[in-house]
Amino acid sequence: MMKKSICLYSFLIFSLLFGSNLSQEDACIACHVEVDQELDDEDKIVNHFESDIHIKVGLSCADCHGGDPNAFDDEDEAMWENETFIGAIEKSEQLDVCGKCHSDPLFMRRYSIDVKVDQVSQYKTSGHGISLAEGNDKVAVCTDCHNVHGILPVNDPRAPVYAKNIPETCSKCHSDDTRMFESGLPTNQFDEYKNSVHGVALLENGDIGAPACNDCHGNHGATPPYVENVDQICGTCHSNNKNLFQKSHLNDIFLSKGFGQCEACHGNHDVEIPTDEFLGWSSESACKPCHEDSHPAKLMASHFYQTIDSLKIGLIQAHDMVEKAEHKGMIVSELLFDLEDAKKALIQTRTNIHSFNNAFVDSGAAPGFVSIQAAINGSNVLLDEVIYRRKGLLAFSLIITIFVIAIGLKVKEWKRIRESEEV
Ligand code: HEC
Ligand code: HEC
Ligand code: HEC
Ligand code: HEC
Ligand code: HEC
Ligand code: HEC
Ligand code: HEC
Ligand code: HEC
Ligand code: HEC
Repeated sequence: MMKKSICLYSFLIFSLLFGSNLSQEDACIACHVEVDQELDDEDKIVNHFESDIHIKVGLSCADCHGGDPNAFDDEDEAMWENETFIGAIEKSEQLDVCGKCHSDPLFMRRYSIDVKVDQVSQYKTSGHGISLAEGNDKVAVCTDCHNVHGILPVNDPRAPVYAKNIPETCSKCHSDDTRMFESGLPTNQFDEYKNSVHGVALLENGDIGAPACNDCHGNHGATPPYVENVDQICGTCHSNNKNLFQKSHLNDIFLSKGFGQCEACHGNHDVEIPTDEFLGWSSESACKPCHEDSHPAKLMASHFYQTIDSLKIGLIQAHDMVEKAEHKGMIVSELLFDLEDAKKALIQTRTNIHSFNNAFVDSGAAPGFVSIQAAINGSNVLLDEVIYRRKGLLAFSLIITIFVIAIGLKVKEWKRIRESEEV
């Protein structure tokens, strides 16, 4: 009896804390509020459970652990003696426990119409799932990526699977030498990633368009991309580069040799911002690791480099000229459009090199050179006009001066005549 009243009392406190979320009485929660009091903060379960998506949609402890949530009187009746009670859930049991609902489209559709129900089936095909099936308990299961009590919606910025938090979540294990030792996998992915163009964009600049680990590896199906689909993975975001490279003859050569298409030049975790030197034939060249000086690659790379360099230099010259005309007070808005077009052609050419085709790159750069010429010619016309106007102004002020002097003389003469008349 005593026990029951304590339970009910705790339940009241809980109801106050959780408001109307919990419409039915729940013996598990009521008693575990008490059990929690004996535990350290981080081990308290009900506390974490407050923010859990499952309690928000009206589910509770027994929906995962089994047992009888109406047995207020008796721990044994609620848990140990109830045949549905599975107790603490082992890693290997999670697929069944979570999958009971998350693989059931009819059940899940009651909560959300477009919810996915492929997490467990995807997981089983992943590096993690395959290894778990072989008995490796060091791999990630559902709660390693989503937490246990306190599972948040995936679009909650505090969730461990929210884009910005994913690299940390994966690196808990993938940067841990002890945990990864048996698998023989390297543990440098996070260190490389965090300094890459993608890592800096996501982690430092908050650009959630930049890929986290799961954008290249998948969420539940996490596997290393296969060599034949690396370009597809990079191409989900860099579609122009992908389309051009796929049509190039280098694509077939790379595939036949087992090189990851984009990866062979750009790397995977350590992708850097490519410079034009990466394209040329200097020590930073992307081609040199595979090609000798005597290979046609040198000619091609040098040609691309020079095309881009000429566009860059032309653009700087054109820009200076337009600026000069503007400083002299001329209206240059038309020429700014030309500069903009030339800039676009330069950016496009950096992408076009992925065709590895000289004629294609030339034809993409040509409009850029036309725009540069147009801006330079336009500026020259404006600057000539400045000179013409200057000359015009000079002549004009000369005429005015002469006119003023003439008037002055005339006024003097009139004064003189008036004075002589007055006398
Ligand atoms: C009257 C109190 C009481 C009730 C009701 C109760 N529990 Fe417990 N529960 C406990 C205690 C005490 C423990 C043991 C804690 C320990 O020492 O490990 C426990 C342990 C557990 C464990 C861990 C089991 C293990 O094998 O380590 C789970 C899971 C659990 N409870 C879930 C539930 C669920 C689900 C319900 C409702 C169906 C529930 N409890 C109802 C008091 C209660
Ligand atoms: C969404 C499913 C889910 C719900 C809901 C849930 N649990 Fe759990 N619980 C788990 C899983 C999974 C584990 C095993 C965690 C692990 O392996 O670290 C666990 C572990 C536990 C343990 C053992 C803790 C330990 O450290 O060994 C207890 C006790 C427990 N849960 C109690 C509860 C109580 C009480 C509630 C309700 C307030 C609850 N659980 C709600 C999934 C759930
Ligand atoms: C290796 C980490 C990892 C593991 C293991 C994992 N998840 Fe996920 N989960 C994610 C990521 C990452 C997302 C997606 C976040 C996003 O789309 O922005 C996600 C999304 C989800 C979603 C939202 C719907 C969806 O599919 O996008 C559910 C539900 C979910 N996971 C359940 C599970 C279940 C159940 C398991 C165990 C079978 C599991 N997850 C295992 C990382 C993981
Ligand atoms: C009793 C059924 C049930 C069980 C068991 C269950 N879930 Fe859920 N889960 C749900 C429902 C219902 C939602 C809410 C779906 C919604 O509103 O989109 C949900 C939501 C989620 C979400 C958030 C999805 C999103 O779209 O943001 C994640 C992550 C998740 N569950 C993971 C788990 C994990 C991990 C387990 C096992 C430890 C588990 N669930 C066990 C029913 C369940
Ligand atoms: C709980 C620890 C843990 C977490 C968290 C985790 N992993 Fe893993 N992962 C492992 C272990 C251990 C292996 C090695 C399995 C094996 O031995 O084959 C692995 C394997 C992999 C593999 C397969 C590699 C290969 O060559 O076979 C990929 C890819 C992977 N993880 C990606 C991820 C991503 C992406 C995330 C985050 C969304 C993540 N992992 C989170 C522990 C983890
Ligand atoms: C831009 C895409 C991309 C991102 C982001 C990315 N990876 Fe990878 N990852 C790859 C590619 C490509 C491979 C190599 C596949 C191959 O060559 O077989 C790979 C390989 C792996 C492997 C296999 C072992 C290895 O190092 O070769 C693991 C484990 C892994 N990645 C984990 C991660 C983790 C953890 C993160 C986040 C910190 C991450 N990856 C981010 C593309 C990516
Ligand atoms: C989820 C989308 C996404 C995926 C997948 C992706 N990237 Fe990116 N990538 C971006 C974004 C966004 C940026 C721009 C970051 C910034 O500068 O702010 C970027 C930048 C780059 C840059 C630098 C471009 C520049 O001009 O600064 C290169 C090179 C690059 N990615 C190559 C790759 C390669 C190679 C892969 C595959 C292994 C890949 N990306 C996969 C989104 C993606
Ligand atoms: C044979 C080497 C090579 C391969 C293969 C390659 N790239 Fe590049 N990539 C380069 C070079 C060199 C540059 C630098 C061009 C410049 O800025 O002058 C570059 C530049 C880039 C840029 C920045 C310029 C832009 O287009 O915005 C992106 C993004 C990029 N590559 C993505 C990819 C993707 C995605 C793939 C796979 C489909 C790929 N690359 C395959 C050599 C390569
Ligand atoms: C990962 C290694 C690798 C990289 C990096 C690489 N290539 Fe190649 N390339 C090859 C292989 C292999 C062949 C075919 C064998 C041969 O011709 O040497 C080839 C062939 C070529 C060919 C001759 C194709 C034909 O018609 O026979 C050209 C041109 C070429 N590459 C240009 C480049 C340029 C330009 C770069 C740098 C932007 C580059 N490659 C970077 C591996 C590479």
